[in-house]
Amino acid sequence: MAVTPVHVLAIDQGTTSTRAIVFDRDGLPVATAQRELRQFYPHDGWVEHDLEDIWRDTTVVCRTALEDAGLTASAISAIGITNQRETTALWDRRTGEPLHNAIVWQDRRTAEVCRRLHGDGAEPLVAERTGLLIDPYFSATKLGWLLDHLPGARQRAERGELCFGTIDSFLLFRLTGGKVHATDASNASRTLLFDIHKQDWDDDLLRLFDIPRALLPEVKDNSALFGTSEPEFLGAPLPITGMAGDQQAATVGQACFEPGMIKSTYGTGCFALLNVGDKPVSSANRLLTTTAYRLNGKPTYAVEGSIFVAGAAVQWLRDGLRVIGDAAASERHANDLPDTQGVYMVPAFTGLGAPHWDPDARGALLGLTRDTGVSHIVRAALEAVCYQTRDLMECMAADGGTQPSALRVDGGMVRNDWLMQFLADILELPVERPIVTETTALGAAYLAGLHTGVYASLDSVAAAWHRERLFEPAMVPADRTRLYEGWRRAVRRVRSDVA
Ligand code: G3P
Repeated sequence: MAVTPVHVLAIDQGTTSTRAIVFDRDGLPVATAQRELRQFYPHDGWVEHDLEDIWRDTTVVCRTALEDAGLTASAISAIGITNQRETTALWDRRTGEPLHNAIVWQDRRTAEVCRRLHGDGAEPLVAERTGLLIDPYFSATKLGWLLDHLPGARQRAERGELCFGTIDSFLLFRLTGGKVHATDASNASRTLLFDIHKQDWDDDLLRLFDIPRALLPEVKDNSALFGTSEPEFLGAPLPITGMAGDQQAATVGQACFEPGMIKSTYGTGCFALLNVGDKPVSSANRLLTTTAYRLNGKPTYAVEGSIFVAGAAVQWLRDGLRVIGDAAASERHANDLPDTQGVYMVPAFTGLGAPHWDPDARGALLGLTRDTGVSHIVRAALEAVCYQTRDLMECMAADGGTQPSALRVDGGMVRNDWLMQFLADILELPVERPIVTETTALGAAYLAGLHTGVYASLDSVAAAWHRERLFEPAMVPADRTRLYEGWRRAVRRVRSDVA
């Protein structure tokens, strides 16, 4: 007798690693496999990924996770995909071959194009339609760069021979053996080409960024039948029924389904998404408005604060400066000291994101003395993550609307207890850490499993969310103010547009 499959396989293709996690019907991880992703930095401010690396890693981690779980494809009800957003891929529609490395969301090569568009007064239209701002972060100018720099690409794009997609779309295309070219509403919302009100690609924006429509994927709900994986991928065909950008997936995994609920994910960068309900609310303080998720054709929106460097600063301390052996050592360093003695790190390695949107800013260490040691610098890197989150929360507060009563956190960095306490202290807000901190993959699994019936409803997902630990603010108010003012001064010193 055939057994009903009750597991879901989530693929989490992130900036620095590719992961596959098998979840059971209670939303608990059964097995995880991971591979680090090679980074390419061909020029100052440029960041690329090899799409063949991404594809190979995806197949390896999926097979390994399944094997480690002691399962075969027959136990898997569905596949969910979540991904680093905005990262731009262009490939041949017939062969599936990439024309170039993917241009990563952190890449700043189109800063000049963005400046020109600003100068031409394009931002109000873009902001009104997309909820975003003009910045190299998003996909449209990266795609424009590929079309302009790869010989013959524009003509081939116009003839319909090429496909553009973010990583979700590229993986879907490969998984389905080139049969499906689609994306989901959350990923589409990050391209600068998608009208978040109409929930459709927009002709004015396509004209503005000079992008041929024939390149674009079909846009679906986050929980839908996207396609079926080729049998050779996992030994049997499996439906792909969930897809979302990683930050939106984490919003689902954290069960932030009510307006006023907020999550912040600490991965390579840090992204805070505040659920604002079924009407897009625009920020007066340079935050983004984005589609959080779209189910049964109905979008729910979020206001988002995007910080480009969080975990990447710790990775730089480990791999670049080589002052720590592993990420866990950062907690020991921070605990070794009562404070940084006025040392601040502004990790603007790839410019500053929200609310500054300054692609030309670069990182800095400030306040160094003869007494400054490794621990001060390490602690300053961790503190910067918290100060940047506070910058976002200040903007959300200034925008008005429902204010959150707690912040749900997830991502690799939240295992650091010192960091979580400092975050609660600097924000003056309770910080909640869930039992499952892999909420990005969990969100993708929920979206996929909602479609196939492994998970019953958003209510049951919300009921399955459990807190592992609560961090309550405990810092003396005068210290909080002094430290944060020091941070603001440090940021002013790295801004490219502040004399
Ligand atoms: O917008 C970029 C974001 O999706 C990348 O996420 O987790 O890879 O830092 P992450």
